Amino acid sequence: MAAGRKRWVWVADAVAAASVLGAGAWALLGRRLASESGPPEAPRGAIFKPRANLFATLALLSMGAAVAGGLGWWWLWPRGDYVRRVGFTIDQPVPFSHQHHVAGLGIDCRFCHNAVEVGTNAALPPTYTCMTCHSQIWTNADLLAPVRRSLAEDKPIVWGRVTNLPDYVYFNHSIHIAKGVGCSSCHGAVAEMPLMAKAATMTMEWCLSCHRNPGPQLRPASEIYNTEWQRTPDTPSPEALLTQYHVGGRNLTECSICHR
Ligand code: HEC
Ligand code: HEC
Ligand code: HEC
Ligand code: HEC
Ligand code: HEC
Repeated sequence: MAAGRKRWVWVADAVAAASVLGAGAWALLGRRLASESGPPEAPRGAIFKPRANLFATLALLSMGAAVAGGLGWWWLWPRGDYVRRVGFTIDQPVPFSHQHHVAGLGIDCRFCHNAVEVGTNAALPPTYTCMTCHSQIWTNADLLAPVRRSLAEDKPIVWGRVTNLPDYVYFNHSIHIAKGVGCSSCHGAVAEMPLMAKAATMTMEWCLSCHRNPGPQLRPASEIYNTEWQRTPDTPSPEALLTQYHVGGRNLTECSICHR
């Protein structure tokens, strides 16, 4: 997956570079052409030297390349990792570490995101969930001052959102969990993240790339919350998992699945 994303960025960069070069070459050739065909050297009866044909062709070609490059860039750029904020972290009121709490302490996702199996949203944990431990541990840490203040003032901590879909898209966590899609298929290696970073572009094409053929992405129910999980030779085949989870009865690429 990572290689795929990198390739997009590469292509976008190459296309942008090609269009800049093309435009530059065009400008240069234009000037050459003007000076070559200017009156001083022009033989009688011929305004342009024969070479001008070549230059004119090249100029047209590079103009075409510049337009194509510009269009390619216009298409790819908004879909790239940079614009979609993939791999970026955001400022949070408390620098909460999934690496520490999930990989280090072994806390299950559902302890904090308790709606993920039953709800549309996964839900972010209320302050008292943190306080089940932090009323005992690290009670004076400056880093946790906003958590204590939130409890004292009875005001929830306002976490910034890393993953977000536009309102016109319908998404539902519980069905994905129930049908064998693990957290890391969409959120990446959460247990290795000191700060939460977005793991996928979350474009429509990205959703569809799985909806067209979900089988290879499904996993045994016991591994849903294991964000380090990889397919092994022992993993049931994609076909077996599709059958087990009863996936495949519906056309998952139909517009009304996600736009209702
Ligand atoms: C101890 C509580 C806790 C546990 C356990 C926990 N999380 Fe979180 N999670 C949080 C908090 C707090 C935030 C909001 C701050 C942030 O984005 O880092 C969050 C944010 C997230 C986000 C980003 C949501 C968004 O769009 O802004 C994802 C995705 C996520 N968690 C997935 C997981 C997964 C997967 C697991 C299990 C492997 C897990 N979390 C375990 C507390 C927890
Ligand atoms: C099929 C992809 C997918 C899977 C699987 C998935 N998520 Fe999400 N998650 C999303 C999307 C998309 C959003 C943003 C939803 C929105 O903006 O409406 C999101 C948002 C979140 C949020 C932010 C708060 C919220 O409720 O919207 C948390 C926390 C979260 N996911 C945790 C998890 C955990 C934990 C798991 C595994 C049990 C998981 N997700 C599995 C795609 C997924
Ligand atoms: C199950 C117990 C438990 C829960 C629940 C818990 N923490 Fe922690 N947290 C710890 C422990 C233990 C440490 C100290 C880890 C260490 O330093 O080895 C810690 C450390 C921290 C730190 C210090 C930085 C770091 O990662 O070492 C922050 C900040 C923090 N927790 C925030 C939170 C927030 C916010 C929540 C609620 C969303 C939360 N914790 C929920 C046990 C917990
Ligand atoms: C890794 C694979 C995967 C990804 C990525 C994925 N989905 Fe799904 N999605 C599934 C599977 C599997 C189902 C269940 C299909 C079934 O029940 O037949 C499903 C079902 C759904 C449903 C049907 C819910 C219902 O109750 O009818 C919606 C809506 C949906 N996905 C939206 C999205 C959106 C939006 C995204 C992108 C943000 C997305 N999905 C990304 C695998 C995925
Ligand atoms: C699996 C879920 C899914 C399905 C199926 C789906 N879409 Fe989308 N669609 C999305 C998501 C997610 C976005 C938001 C992408 C973003 O954030 O830019 C989106 C965005 C859009 C947009 C806004 C413009 C854009 O490209 O960003 C249009 C228009 C659209 N979809 C039309 C359709 C049509 C028509 C179909 C049926 C052929 C369809 N969608 C099927 C998930 C889906």
